[in-house]
Amino acid sequence: MSKKFTPVFILGLMAVLSSLCTACYYDKEEILYPDLPCDTTRQMSYSSDVVPVLSVNCYNCHSLVNAPIYGEGLVLEGYANLRTYLFENPDVLLNSIKQNGQALAMPRGSTKLDKCSISDIEVWIKQGQKNN
Ligand code: HEC
Repeated sequence: MSKKFTPVFILGLMAVLSSLCTACYYDKEEILYPDLPCDTTRQMSYSSDVVPVLSVNCYNCHSLVNAPIYGEGLVLEGYANLRTYLFENPDVLLNSIKQNGQALAMPRGSTKLDKCSISDIEVWIKQGQKNN
């Protein structure tokens, strides 16, 4: 390597190293400690455990407005709609987010939900799907 490239090389190396360092600040518990078990004992809440996951990952196709266009009419927004869907199609929603081959894999066209989001929804369903 000729001398005039050395500073460029060092700058490049610093850029690579600094990007590695910022990766260390990505502090999602599950990614840092993938084997940590999910909390399955606390009371799950529709508004603070279920809606945030669905609104980020599903409402772009399954909200009231978007479902007719992108979600084949399946509305998962709103407690009553979700509850009715779960009642009429037991296990389909869970199978779809678990991507276990027993339903179409959701979210469609994107990566699987993280394991504790799936677990939270499953626990909420088992706890009686409360409107809490
Ligand atoms: C990009 C749009 C899109 C996103 C995002 C999306 N879906 Fe879907 N979903 C669809 C479409 C379209 C269908 C109808 C079946 C098909 O064509 O895949 C569907 C079908 C389903 C079904 C029925 C599956 C079956 O086997 O009958 C369920 C349950 C479902 N979605 C749940 C979800 C959940 C929960 C999320 C979020 C974690 C989600 N979807 C995200 C587009 C989407």
